[in-house]
Amino acid sequence: MSVAPPQLPAALPHSMALGELTEVHPLSANEHWSRSSVIYQIYPRSFRDLNGDGIGDLPGITAELHHLAALGVDAVWLSPFFTSPQRDAGYDVSDYCDVDPLFGTLADFDALVSRAAVLNLRVIVDLVPNHCSSEHPLFAAALAAPAGSTERELFIFRDGLGASGELPPNDWESHFGGSAWTRTADADGGPGQWYLHLFDSSQPDFNWDSPRVHAEFERILRFWLDRGVDGFRVDVAHALVKAQGLPNWGGRADGGSSKGFPGHRAPMFGQPALHDIYRQWRKVLAEYGQDKILCAEANVDPLDRLADWVRPDEMHQAFNFPYLNAEFSAPSLRAVVDASLGSLGRVGAPSTWVLSNHDVVRHVSRLGLDGQLPRGGDGIGPGDVQPNLELGRRRAAASSLFMLGLPGGAYLYQGEELGLPDHTTLDHGHRQDPTFGRTGGERIGRDGCRVPLPWRAEDTNVGFSSEGTPWLPFPKSWRALARDVQAADDRSHLALYTGALALRRDLRLGAGSLAWAERYCSDSSLAYLNGNTLVVLNTSGAPMDLPAGDVLIRSDSSAAPTDQLNSGETIWLSPVLEVG
Ligand code: GLC
Ligand code: CA
Repeated sequence: MSVAPPQLPAALPHSMALGELTEVHPLSANEHWSRSSVIYQIYPRSFRDLNGDGIGDLPGITAELHHLAALGVDAVWLSPFFTSPQRDAGYDVSDYCDVDPLFGTLADFDALVSRAAVLNLRVIVDLVPNHCSSEHPLFAAALAAPAGSTERELFIFRDGLGASGELPPNDWESHFGGSAWTRTADADGGPGQWYLHLFDSSQPDFNWDSPRVHAEFERILRFWLDRGVDGFRVDVAHALVKAQGLPNWGGRADGGSSKGFPGHRAPMFGQPALHDIYRQWRKVLAEYGQDKILCAEANVDPLDRLADWVRPDEMHQAFNFPYLNAEFSAPSLRAVVDASLGSLGRVGAPSTWVLSNHDVVRHVSRLGLDGQLPRGGDGIGPGDVQPNLELGRRRAAASSLFMLGLPGGAYLYQGEELGLPDHTTLDHGHRQDPTFGRTGGERIGRDGCRVPLPWRAEDTNVGFSSEGTPWLPFPKSWRALARDVQAADDRSHLALYTGALALRRDLRLGAGSLAWAERYCSDSSLAYLNGNTLVVLNTSGAPMDLPAGDVLIRSDSSAAPTDQLNSGETIWLSPVLEVG
């Protein structure tokens, strides 16, 4: 692929003011909306509860959607709201083409889509193709049918090892802890075959070697496309196809902490046949026009491999987990930005950027811990070292502002615009994430980042639910973080996000390009030019000097001097360029 020449206007004057410029990402002529989009993740059970049962619902989303339009995002992605026994918060689907009564009805979904259209917001839904719920009728039928039946072909059933099949068929471990296999009982009550579940035992993996599974998911795609959705976020998109023979791997299905990240070596991840599936789905989407998108939740390492997922005839986007996992340090951030723009740019794809989601510790809490995250990294509990929230919030604001200036797509997780931390002192009695139970509490799990949103400081349950008990309790400090409090304060975290998103849109930063301004880059600072906007981040312990320019926005609204950048701060400047 040929690389377009750098598009920087007047390279010489820039270099006089900013030092040498290192361009990483040439401007692209492709204007597809997803290439520069900001997509906001709604976690339905924690967004807004309108019917008062303590669990967020679709009418609650519709009622508050205008706040997201005001925030300035392009699209919302809804985590699963489909019929489900909720053993993994809806990622265990028993009917892919209906709404769980907990969240409402299909008519409520249609109302949400109509409201979104009025507000100019696109709607992306979550597709969970790796596994369903053990209560899905197809799995119930497979369990009721004998070994070797066509019903069982839709899942991964195997005989056990050992004299009487008492040992699991291989050594894979579940992502949530324990074996990835569960033994079934035969019709006569005696012990039977085992089935594979990379996640909870209530989430049997589909067998993607079966054409019937392919046909079923194409039907599901069309069902939601017919209802007007704009695309799909594809859950564990790296895992659908398993290596032939299911060879031993030596432990946890996701590689686990002891092995480091497995990348493409693991027999349950990144198999070549996956790409045929996504090419086929891309064709299905194209039947509905060019605007529909696929985004992979693909934990694939390194970024060079991830690039294969976003080739022109595959997915439009893939989550950038290496970016989420990068440390708050100039060398780490520069390395991951370079690798992202370089690897994905090689196939003509934009990068995406993300700092938080419903599976990880929110970045306010993460960045408020100086050391490593405890136990598997998916939660902080009351017995762990607690984050320094003042530090965390300052760094989170700086990180978010750094991210929102980058060219490409960005994903936001509900509540990050309010600077919410995790609930890190939640009583264990409230925990619902299967990770906690399956590891005997050794891993805290993800409930801490899933606490309901605070809407209105003075209302019952901080405006999340007018009656009822929220499914997870709020931390004591939540009232001060309520959206209405922050909306009235132009120095709030919410004001920072709203301001940054408006500027990002006006300055077309998402569709822009990146050149490092070397004079302001060091081991403890980074500066990049995107169009005519200079973004500078200071990770050092001391203030740093800035080039002359107009301040567009800065992450520390109390910062006084305009020629200095505080420690742990990001600024967007319109630099005054000396013409030489
Ligand atoms: C994805 C989801 C996570 C879920 C898992 C199993 O990683 O983001 O929440 O538990 O898949 O579906
Ligand atoms: Ca509800």
